[in-house]
Amino acid sequence: MDSLSSRFPSCSPNTLFKAATMASALRSTAIAALLAVFVDHTSAAAIAAEKCPTRFAWENAQLTDAAVANNDPLFGFGDAFNSKDEECKAMPGDASWPSQQTWDKFNTALGGALTEIVPLAASCYSDWPQYDAAACADITENWSSPYTHVNDPASIMWPLYQGRTCLPTDDPNSNCTLGGYAAYSVAATEVKHIQLALNFARNANLRLVVKNTGHDFAAKSVGAGALSVWTHELKDIEFLADYNCRGYSGPAFRMGSGVVVEEAYAAAEENDVTVVGGMCRTVGLAGGYTAGGGHSPMAALVGMAADQILELNVVLPDGRFVTANEDENPDLYWALRGGGGSTYGVVTSVTIRAYPKVPTTTMTYSYTTGPDLPADKFFEALGVYMSYFDAFTSAGAFGYFLVVSSGPGEFVFNMMPMWGANMTKPQFTSLVTPFLDELAGLGIAITPVITEYPTMYQAYNGTFTGAESVGSYDSHAASRLFPKENFESAKLADTLAAVRHAVEGGGTLVGYNIRSAPNPSINQDNSINPAWRKTTGFFILGASWAPGATDEEIQQVSETLTTDWMARWREVSPGAGSYMSEGDINEPDFQQAFYGAHYARLLELKKKYDPTGLFYAPTAVGSEDWYVTDQLPWIPTQNGRLCRKV
Ligand SMILES: Cc1cc2nc3c(=O)[nH]c(=O)nc-3n(C[C@H](O)[C@H](O)[C@H](O)COP(=O)(O)OP(=O)(O)OC[C@H]3O[C@@H](n4cnc5c(N)ncnc54)[C@H](O)[C@@H]3O)c2cc1C
Ligand SMILES: *[C@@H]1O[C@H](CO)[C@@H](O)[C@H](O)[C@H]1NC(C)=O
Ligand SMILES: *[C@@H]1O[C@H](CO)[C@@H](O)[C@H](O)[C@H]1NC(C)=O
Ligand SMILES: *[C@@H]1O[C@H](CO)[C@@H](O)[C@H](O)[C@H]1NC(C)=O
Ligand SMILES: *[C@@H]1O[C@H](CO)[C@@H](O)[C@H](O)[C@H]1NC(C)=O
Repeated sequence: MDSLSSRFPSCSPNTLFKAATMASALRSTAIAALLAVFVDHTSAAAIAAEKCPTRFAWENAQLTDAAVANNDPLFGFGDAFNSKDEECKAMPGDASWPSQQTWDKFNTALGGALTEIVPLAASCYSDWPQYDAAACADITENWSSPYTHVNDPASIMWPLYQGRTCLPTDDPNSNCTLGGYAAYSVAATEVKHIQLALNFARNANLRLVVKNTGHDFAAKSVGAGALSVWTHELKDIEFLADYNCRGYSGPAFRMGSGVVVEEAYAAAEENDVTVVGGMCRTVGLAGGYTAGGGHSPMAALVGMAADQILELNVVLPDGRFVTANEDENPDLYWALRGGGGSTYGVVTSVTIRAYPKVPTTTMTYSYTTGPDLPADKFFEALGVYMSYFDAFTSAGAFGYFLVVSSGPGEFVFNMMPMWGANMTKPQFTSLVTPFLDELAGLGIAITPVITEYPTMYQAYNGTFTGAESVGSYDSHAASRLFPKENFESAKLADTLAAVRHAVEGGGTLVGYNIRSAPNPSINQDNSINPAWRKTTGFFILGASWAPGATDEEIQQVSETLTTDWMARWREVSPGAGSYMSEGDINEPDFQQAFYGAHYARLLELKKKYDPTGLFYAPTAVGSEDWYVTDQLPWIPTQNGRLCRKV
């Protein structure tokens, strides 16, 4: 089976390309790579006084009861007007689907922010008015760039879950349909737009989706026939140098929910601070990433991204705009920090804590099996690394690595990189030397490249040089949050055997040696999956199939991933969990795996804030009450109708 490599979306550090090229040379397989700053110059004297942030100007552009009273009742707030609980959401073509006149009226109320969705690759298909060979060539060439999808109101980075109904093609006579894409999208630039969209969707019984970048692994930002709220244009970043509010005093940022990692990092660098973000450049830092917990090369030092949130502004399912922090709506504040996107409302902005700049040291190296390194030794070396997981993360370090089979009995290990935040090169070197000595003792000849950077940003910029590669539809991923016990002597061999089974079977392991650091200086009482708090190894496992695989072949690979490879990972880590933002859409008992002991409270809050079930996303809290029609086993898409289980 053509299962080499690293085809599911991931960041693209330069060393990864090296490993991919290496693997590709061995198997000659086509491999896609895996995988307005306003400075606040307030005087020092002002710091003593409580200084809580205000809203962005566009957050004050709100829908009023008076405006609603003068317009269609379909735009009314949830406390005033509610649709009855229909069994299924409306789809285009239904008798209950809003008329063109109503859509026009909606667009007028929005000031023209509504667009009717045209699939991104429609230019490749002769039966679409957008048909244009040059535009098609451009889309085809740029399909694997995340920016292509980030900048489109509907497209997502995992076309599998859209139903693969309009991929770039050189056959203009094939068919392109909307599939799982929304029907209409609201490009929100004001809170009012979001309020109108939520009210209209709720009152007209439309499916609602929220799209930011489209990175989600579980199709949470698409839905057939939906009205989509697109948060992409909410890009403001404001540096709060002397934030002093509700017990935290120090630097912070307020960001619109459309801000992505590379933008946040650049703003932090410019203002001489560091923020907690992910690795890939275009992940929505203030969107789904933080909502689901958010892991980071900084996490082992200061905690998860959601732990850094001081306050959020959000439009609730009833259309009302509220603030959530320790004092206002504290239950919502708890739920929005880790409980997942598209569940309790549309977040418009977040205020997050920032840290001083820290020196950062990185290390990269790789090795492969060969005449001097048989497979058994290769995995023994992996076990040696695992035995250091706790020591490394306890020191605040982080590791991001790839393990993949490059042929029968042949394997590649690529550290891409290990990362010591707040460590100088001598500090980092003394941390890793005992480990490197052990590797050398096994006869593994590596030449680690250790580099010190003055700041986290420069380490990031020097390591993750390119944008991630996305858009493939030849793989499917799952993940496990392994607690530190899995890497202690009593369990290490079993853990390693379970990992080896999957990699030997053709799985791609993208591993993280990471922890969520306890940090007494921030509020970590939130809804992040409790499994994160015990984790030292977060492993993503990709299963891939050959280009042109049939649905049956894809089903079989996906089933093997979930019921064989991952089953062994679950068995060896009973009671642990998985990361919702990089998890398996087929995860059994997703409530336990993605939310753990927090699920009951999260569900109670879902019923409180979203009693009519306006927000739905696969594997989101409360999603077990719904199903999507017309599904094949193991390849769930979002291109059927969304209905309540009755
Ligand atoms: C290449 C790649 C690299 C990644 N790297 C990392 C990483 O380093 N660390 C990490 O923790 N994760 C990482 N992820 C996973 C990432 O956190 C999730 O995919 C996350 O869902 C992305 O959020 P988004 O807003 O960018 O994407 P989207 O797919 O647009 O949204 C994700 C979910 O959040 C919801 N949502 C988005 N914005 C809002 C909002 N304002 N209000 C309410 N709901 C909202 C959407 O409806 C959807 O349910 C990566 C994913 C990919 C594909
Ligand atoms: C697509 O790629 C071409 C060539 O690399 C580039 O010039 C163009 O700007 C890209 N288009 C988009 C939409 O990213
Ligand atoms: C396109 O769709 C039409 C109508 O559903 C169908 O008759 C035709 O066979 C399809 N064409 C291709 C190339 O799949
Ligand atoms: C970095 O380390 C220094 C001591 O070496 C410490 O004072 C500081 O708090 C650390 N920074 C972070 C963000 O942990
Ligand atoms: C980021 O890295 C690129 C090279 O990859 C370099 O040209 C650029 O100057 C760097 N930016 C900063 C702010 O360091």
